[in-house]
Amino acid sequence: MKKIAIFASGNGSNAENIVKYFHQNEKIKVDLVGSNNSEAKVLDRVSRYRVPTIIFNKENLMNGGVLEILEQKKIDFIVLAGFLLKIPKTIINKYVNKIINIHPSLLPLYGGKGMYGNYVHQKVLEERDKKTGITIHFVNEKYDDGAIIFQAKCLLDDNLTIKKIAKKVHDLEIKFYPKIIENILNEQN
Ligand code: GRF
Repeated sequence: MKKIAIFASGNGSNAENIVKYFHQNEKIKVDLVGSNNSEAKVLDRVSRYRVPTIIFNKENLMNGGVLEILEQKKIDFIVLAGFLLKIPKTIINKYVNKIINIHPSLLPLYGGKGMYGNYVHQKVLEERDKKTGITIHFVNEKYDDGAIIFQAKCLLDDNLTIKKIAKKVHDLEIKFYPKIIENILNEQN
């Protein structure tokens, strides 16, 4: 059994979708959901599936407290789904090629610190881009910078709003993130 931890800071629709996807799976299990925000909706969403949750702050993440829990629980793989803090080197070094993130644009476009959610879609709109999409990538020490694993595109027509772009991108996230996680876990030992 491979055990996943998901880290999320906010709404958690992706986290819930991943938990749902692996519910009843015999080889892969989401065994922890962590958040740096005690008010995050994600905590409610996943508690319905009886997944253990933890709340931690930036200090716990930086000083090894979170890593200790990951190791105690024998977590094999970490999935970031709308997690806004940077993952420290100590965790990255223990989980080489075992931490992934999803970003709501076609990286390298519109990534980096402060580029999340509607800030990303706002940029797409301003630039009048004809397409956008999602990027799933390994996590390194910089925001949105690790090796790209998968991208999916959607085409944009005229008369778009941020809301419409967000919906198109979100649909891709829901469709692909769990499957890509499953593929990677099945390929890795
Ligand atoms: C998603 O758009 C994801 O790409 C980004 O954060 C957002 C999380 O949304 N990294 P939700 O909390 O899963 O609803």
